[in-house]
Amino acid sequence: MTIEQVKCKLQSMLTPKRFAHSLAVRDASIRLAQHYGVDEHKAAAAGLLHDCAKGLSEEQLLKLADEFGILIDSIQKSEAGLLHAPIGAELARKEFDVHDREILTAIRYHTTGCEDMGLLAKIICLADFIAEGRNFPEVEDLRRIAFADLDAALLMGMDLTIKHVISKGSLIHPDTVKARNNLILRNPQPGIKACD
Ligand SMILES: [Fe+2]
Ligand SMILES: [Fe+2]
Repeated sequence: MTIEQVKCKLQSMLTPKRFAHSLAVRDASIRLAQHYGVDEHKAAAAGLLHDCAKGLSEEQLLKLADEFGILIDSIQKSEAGLLHAPIGAELARKEFDVHDREILTAIRYHTTGCEDMGLLAKIICLADFIAEGRNFPEVEDLRRIAFADLDAALLMGMDLTIKHVISKGSLIHPDTVKARNNLILRNPQPGIKACD
């Protein structure tokens, strides 16, 4: 598939707003990849496709998870929207002919994070936070930190996510807790304390 065909197909699967978000995450992913010495073509592909399953309803996500043989945990069952990440990785493989493991892993864990995230997965997760169009109060701080300390920025993003999830009274996926713990355990320096 050419890049134009990929974009065209993706556009047909998403709302205009979500497609614009996908382009913005692609652009942020490329900038972070260039900054941290990661393959920018992989970052562009993962960033562009990270939300390719976002146009599906919870019912469709659950049905596809069953079809694709994706094991669903109790939290994904209750918060089926989380499934757009693992289903997105499957769609990237099946519908967009992406077979690179790093790209597929980055898409699979872009929402929750996971225990041992590679550089590309960190970049996509963070790009999703800082992409143009995001406007939560801390976003400018996060954008600045993203280019100074990748792990500190990711930790800040995860803390914000966890606080948001708690404020909604929703469930926290254990992969997010594992990702956060791992970031702290691997970066014991004082600069990477959780933000208040
Ligand atoms: Fe997403
Ligand atoms: Fe996204």
